[in-house]
Amino acid sequence: PRYARILGTGSYLPPKRLSNAELAAQLAKDGIETSDEWIVERTGIHARHFAEPGVTASELALPAARAALEAAGVDASEIDLIIVATSTPDMIFPSTACLLQAKLGNVGAAAFDVQAVCSGFVYALTVADSMIKTGAAKKALVIGAEVFSRILDFKDRTTCVLFGDGAGAVVVGASDTPGILASELHADGRHANILCTPGTVSGGQVLGDPLLKMDGQAVFKLAVGVLEKVARAVLEKAGRTDADIDWLIPHQANIRIMQGTAKKLKMPLEKLIVTVDQHGNTSAASIPLALDVAVRSGRIKSGDTVMLEGVGGGFTWGAVLLDL
Ligand code: ACO
Repeated sequence: PRYARILGTGSYLPPKRLSNAELAAQLAKDGIETSDEWIVERTGIHARHFAEPGVTASELALPAARAALEAAGVDASEIDLIIVATSTPDMIFPSTACLLQAKLGNVGAAAFDVQAVCSGFVYALTVADSMIKTGAAKKALVIGAEVFSRILDFKDRTTCVLFGDGAGAVVVGASDTPGILASELHADGRHANILCTPGTVSGGQVLGDPLLKMDGQAVFKLAVGVLEKVARAVLEKAGRTDADIDWLIPHQANIRIMQGTAKKLKMPLEKLIVTVDQHGNTSAASIPLALDVAVRSGRIKSGDTVMLEGVGGGFTWGAVLLDL
């Protein structure tokens, strides 16, 4: 049988880092009140990175992709599939994946974007896994890249303190031994309005509000429920149990959601990979960013079993269980 396996990981954060105190001081100039205490207590976030004006998702994706290729020992020319998960693409079209492809100097690979907001990376990884298993691709670059700072309403303190910019990447290759063990993807479009950026471009104008809107408590409640359920479904598919998971990497949105999920899966908090404290919520980039940080720091090692879990706008959710 043919399997798909992660061959290397990479990530990139734009250099500008804002602590909660620095962000609070900036917001205070516009009369928006917040504090380090409030943000830390409700979310676990201490800092986030913001791209400079004009920097795009493909520009953040490029160094992340190069780092993953280098770690995998794969040349960009060997890649035959590029999937970028993003909700903040460079432009309406071409896809961010095509723009990244040109920057990488790859010619001919299939390239497209996946739009599933904070679940984007698990969606993209599952698509790559399926295409590799069927023989439609041999070596894939799967990336989550976001510049959420572009769609934040800095007059809305209930959302603008939560998000950050960044990119994470993996190279996935065909293999005789299993890497990706099982995955599940879900969505429920009835909840589209609890987390959305409803504006669009039409007739040469921006129509509607192009800034992020969120009903935080509704998202919180839905997220906690679906994350345990989807993890259990994936474990069952793979013929594994809670005890087999070495590391849990949930979407990094809020430390309380993440710890709640770990508890429900009876996992000690030491097995929970946390980067939300330093990155904020980077949407589709958060899981591959956290994976790369954990691999490069030596915590996650080759052979470890890792559960990735995404949840976000749509409403979308999903999980991937893999042996690294
Ligand atoms: N600074 C200070 N005070 C604030 C801020 C802020 N940045 N934001 C809100 N407040 C105030 C509110 O106005 C409210 O004041 P009031 O009681 O006088 O009306 C008070 O704090 C409490 O607000 P709540 O919205 O009830 O706070 P809650 O405890 O629900 O926390 C939060 C809000 C952090 C958004 C939480 O609901 C949450 O994390 N939800 C999950 C959503 C999430 O993580 N989304 C990320 C994207 S989706 C995803 O990736 C899964």
